[in-house]
Amino acid sequence: MVKLTDNEFLEFVKIMHKNYGIDLSKKRILIEGRLSNMIERKGMSSFSQYLESIKKNDKDEIITLINKLTTNYTYFYREENHFKFLKEVFLPNEEKNNRLKTLNIWSAGCSSGEEPYTLAMVIDDYFKLNSGSWKVQILATDISDNVLSKAREGVYGEESLSKIPEPYRKKYFEKNDDGKYQVAPAIRKNVTFKVFNLMDTITDKNKYDVIFCRNVMIYFNAETKVNMVNKFYEAVKPEGYLMIGHAETIQRNQSRFSYVQPAIYKKE
Ligand SMILES: C[S@@+](CC[C@H](N)C(=O)[O-])C[C@H]1O[C@@H](n2cnc3c(N)ncnc32)[C@H](O)[C@@H]1O
Repeated sequence: MVKLTDNEFLEFVKIMHKNYGIDLSKKRILIEGRLSNMIERKGMSSFSQYLESIKKNDKDEIITLINKLTTNYTYFYREENHFKFLKEVFLPNEEKNNRLKTLNIWSAGCSSGEEPYTLAMVIDDYFKLNSGSWKVQILATDISDNVLSKAREGVYGEESLSKIPEPYRKKYFEKNDDGKYQVAPAIRKNVTFKVFNLMDTITDKNKYDVIFCRNVMIYFNAETKVNMVNKFYEAVKPEGYLMIGHAETIQRNQSRFSYVQPAIYKKE
């Protein structure tokens, strides 16, 4: 087993924090445990050698690394309070007041697509998106190409659908011969997937009615989180919302967002 020395650990923490905002300062055992075998398989004998290859900015290598150190775990209809809020508060309000009938939504850190597809289903169910006159754009981004390929395919196993309401399962999925479920084309076409590192500047001129960034900030340290939430504030329209994971928090004195209810914030 390749051992991680004190200096290598510190350098690892520094690189991952500076470039990807990922806080690994308390994850020494995780780094060693998850990477040691992979480093050995590459024919390398030390973490220093591996760090050199990371510093060369090999994109595929970096994405493999991030995938090893973070989790892509997700499923349909995760943390249903957010979807309940959309149905009961946000969408009725838009129906009343949004004269242009356009909605711009961003799922930031979308992993394999279950979150943005759930959003497309909830909105479709409310507005009858494909038959009605609403123009809904859902942008879904992640740092990992791998998960985005899976997301674009839109094929999922039974376990990923376990929380989805039965009418949605019937209406929005097609069952394949191998027992897997594919998201219906009418829902897939409403979601655009793109690679985006949340540490980068948001250059997109679009403003969003709602941003979902759930279970992503868990990897970031306090300073990175504050910067990211401030970037989201600029990217959200007035009266727009930021949804974060229920296990995550935003310090009230460090953000201009107003607290609405657990994991829901509003730009007043
Ligand atoms: C646990 S998943 C969350 C998926 C979904 N939002 C949910 O709540 O179920 C976290 C995702 O964040 C992505 N991620 C981590 N760091 C990122 C970064 N700097 N920029 C963009 N995505 C990142 C990971 O690749 C992973 O797919």
